[in-house]
Parts: sequence; structure tokens; C-alpha cells
Amino acid sequence: MAKVVFQPDNVTHECEDGMSLIDICEEVEVSLSFGCTEGTCGVCELTVVEGRENLSKITEEEKDYLYEEDLEGGMRLGCQVKVRKGDVTLTWKGNRAK
Ligand code: FES
Repeated sequence: MAKVVFQPDNVTHECEDGMSLIDICEEVEVSLSFGCTEGTCGVCELTVVEGRENLSKITEEEKDYLYEEDLEGGMRLGCQVKVRKGDVTLTWKGNRAK
């Protein structure tokens, strides 16, 4: 089982290893939104607070859309992310928990 903490909503959700974040977000009520779901609009932009190593590899779409320094800072496109295993903590703009 993997565990995802959606920090801005203060929600923690357990899910099967290898699930896409989009599918996880269908199971749980969180304020993270998706648009194109193809890595081109940026609506799903988020920052990985903890557990970067537990996510799927950065996709070509993310490399095209995000700046390198943002990727290094832990930013990802939520629609491109799968949770491989373990614990992951996410946050995103607009509703960022301080
Ligand atoms: S939903 Fe458009 S980039 Fe992720």
C-alpha cells in the first residue's frame, strides 16, 4: 500500500501501489484539479514535499512544460504522476498550506 498526503486539504489517503494520481484523486475529495490530463496545460502542477523517490519517473511532457529548476525543486504535473509505493506528501498553489 502507498499513502498520499494531500497537504492543502489535510487529507491522507491509502491506495494500491502503482496507481496514477488522477485515479487516486477520483477516490478522494481533494482540491487538486486536472485539465488536459496530457501534460500540456499545467492545471495539475504540484510540488512534492516528501517522497519524490516513491513517484514514477519524470515524463517528457513534464520536461517540456516545467523548468529544470522547478523539477529539481520537486514540481511535477499531477496528471503524469503514478505513486509507486510508500509515503508521498503533495502540495500545490492556490490553496497552499502554510
Ligand atoms: S492536467 Fe493538464 S498538464 Fe496535467
